[in-house]
Amino acid sequence: MKIIILGGQGNLGSQIVKIFEQDHEVFSFDRTDFNALDKEVLFSVVNKIRPDILVNCVAYNAVDKCEDKDGYSDALALNRDLPANLAELALKLDFVLMHFSTDYVFSGLETKREFSEDDTPNPINKYGESKFLGEREIERQAERGLKYYLIRTSKLFGPKGDSPQAKPSFFDIMLSLAQDKKELTVVNEELSCFTYTLDLAAATARLISSRAPLGIYHLVNEGAVTWYDGALELFKQTKMDVLIRPIRSENLYRAARRPKFSVLKNNKVKKLRSYQEALKDYLHNK
Ligand SMILES: NC(=O)c1ccc[n+]([C@@H]2O[C@H](COP(=O)([O-])OP(=O)(O)OC[C@H]3O[C@@H](n4cnc5c(N)ncnc54)[C@H](OP(=O)(O)O)[C@@H]3O)[C@@H](O)[C@H]2O)c1
Repeated sequence: MKIIILGGQGNLGSQIVKIFEQDHEVFSFDRTDFNALDKEVLFSVVNKIRPDILVNCVAYNAVDKCEDKDGYSDALALNRDLPANLAELALKLDFVLMHFSTDYVFSGLETKREFSEDDTPNPINKYGESKFLGEREIERQAERGLKYYLIRTSKLFGPKGDSPQAKPSFFDIMLSLAQDKKELTVVNEELSCFTYTLDLAAATARLISSRAPLGIYHLVNEGAVTWYDGALELFKQTKMDVLIRPIRSENLYRAARRPKFSVLKNNKVKKLRSYQEALKDYLHNK
């Protein structure tokens, strides 16, 4: 199949490109090729290729920056308007749109700790709101016949993407901090699931190869944990002598509130392996 990947140099996009290239004709684009927000260029590139599927890995992910006016306006452009444009284009040119969203669309403030694919989002921060608005644009076009996969995921980790701007993930930040410090404080709240980008890319490819029904999917590694739990596991596996002190969310200043519980429950397809196994693989291949 002909598959376009947008954001192909991002952390997830780089892995999606690698996996999809094994079985498909892949056309990968990133910011260095063209600005995905330039509707005219986007339409002409996609129209020329006429893909069977377009996978959108572009997003504005700076959660705290989304809380200020400029950041939120960038977030709306990338997280709401881009999927809206892609959905319109997908309907017009008849291709399947694959798009990624986040556990942060859920409030995670209630006693409810796990969220199923059909639960109703209720974001508590601006990033979550912008991603939810993107989801709504896709679902609005689905009523007109759009073919789509909307994949929610959380706490990504894995090799850094090829983009010079690619951000290190939580585990890499912890490893780098541990180079200089023997003691680290880590938030022992915000229960959710880590997700290895290689596993997510493979599971995304399986949706296509298995001809899974269109719709919303939750794809995460198994194991509901806090950041603190994740750090303990990391230093256990690397056998590094680092003291981890648990702190509350409110003791780490961040502009955006985070859901206390945002465990994504995968009720639809084969569950991914545990995050501990995935982390072991990541550390082994690093
Ligand atoms: N990271 C997480 O923990 C997490 C958690 C839950 C869900 N998600 C979702 O997973 C998906 C992938 O996230 P990620 O962490 O892999 O993102 P990422 O590493 O930030 O990758 C995004 C890519 O899009 C590119 N891009 C940004 N603006 C662009 C534009 N205007 N035109 C063309 N390309 C542009 C970026 O280029 P530059 O590098 O040059 O900006 C980057 O290569 C997103 O939908 C995200 O919301 C992520």
